Amino acid sequence: TPKGSCLESVKIAIDTGYRHIDGAFVYYNEHEVGQAIREKIAEGRIKREDIFYCGKLWNTCHPPELVRPTLEKTLKILQLDYVDLYIIELPMAFKPGDAIYPKDENGKFIYHETDLCATWEAMEACKDAGLAKSIGVSNFNRRQLEMILNKPGLKHKPVSNQVECHPYFTQPKLLEFCRQHDIVIVGYSPLGTSRDETWVNVSSPPLLKDPVLNAIGRKYNKTAAQVALRFSIQRGVVVIPKSFNPQRIRENFQIFDFSLTEEEMKEIEALNKNVRYVELLM
Ligand code: A2P
Repeated sequence: TPKGSCLESVKIAIDTGYRHIDGAFVYYNEHEVGQAIREKIAEGRIKREDIFYCGKLWNTCHPPELVRPTLEKTLKILQLDYVDLYIIELPMAFKPGDAIYPKDENGKFIYHETDLCATWEAMEACKDAGLAKSIGVSNFNRRQLEMILNKPGLKHKPVSNQVECHPYFTQPKLLEFCRQHDIVIVGYSPLGTSRDETWVNVSSPPLLKDPVLNAIGRKYNKTAAQVALRFSIQRGVVVIPKSFNPQRIRENFQIFDFSLTEEEMKEIEALNKNVRYVELLM
């Protein structure tokens, strides 16, 4: 993000009423997020405990001995004492080192063999040390979740699994599995992404142009974006819409003064295409 835009956006978001902030070391703006939170605390607008900050363990930091130092680095960047949630960002590992995307001379990613269960034990230790209030995962499928849930001596279950989720990719099976295991689904790209071709599958049509979402929106005097977000929260999926535009940051928060009927929920569920925008081909 351009320098300062994240700082401004997080401050506007907090003033608007947002409390859950989804960040990561690899977004390279954690220092601005931390500054925004600290400024808002200093102003007296919020207390630290009002904020729910989620940080993420990157692929190059899966070896167990790297987990705590990596979280400590994030805390130092944020200048906070703890994160509310720390999650394994992806279920596969890259070679540890300074390169965030390590590649060989042929441009191929250099992967790293690690044991996800051992990484999880190191995550558990971070929770026990008070550095993370809760721990979870991201981009895990059912099999990968089961590996953790069935781990002998499991101390703390993942509380959440952050995955792509929106009306065109509704994740019915994973959602049901996670419900059964008390794992909250946090839906990323709830508005259908920024459609940046460098990492988004743009062959899937733009979500916010969808006629059904727009027609339902007209009924409630809401936008397609607000309908998409309302749909997710109404089915128990946490949403983390991204915007760096003050008006849209506010718009995305105005979703608590209307509700969709059961019929509308079904109509939107039927839009599911089972196609991801974020294919994570790596
Ligand atoms: P911007 O930052 O200019 O608002 P997602 O949350 O699914 O990743 O989507 C993020 C993209 O959607 C960003 O490009 C963001 O652009 C845009 N966006 C965010 N809120 C809205 C909205 N209410 N209406 C239209 N586009 C939005």
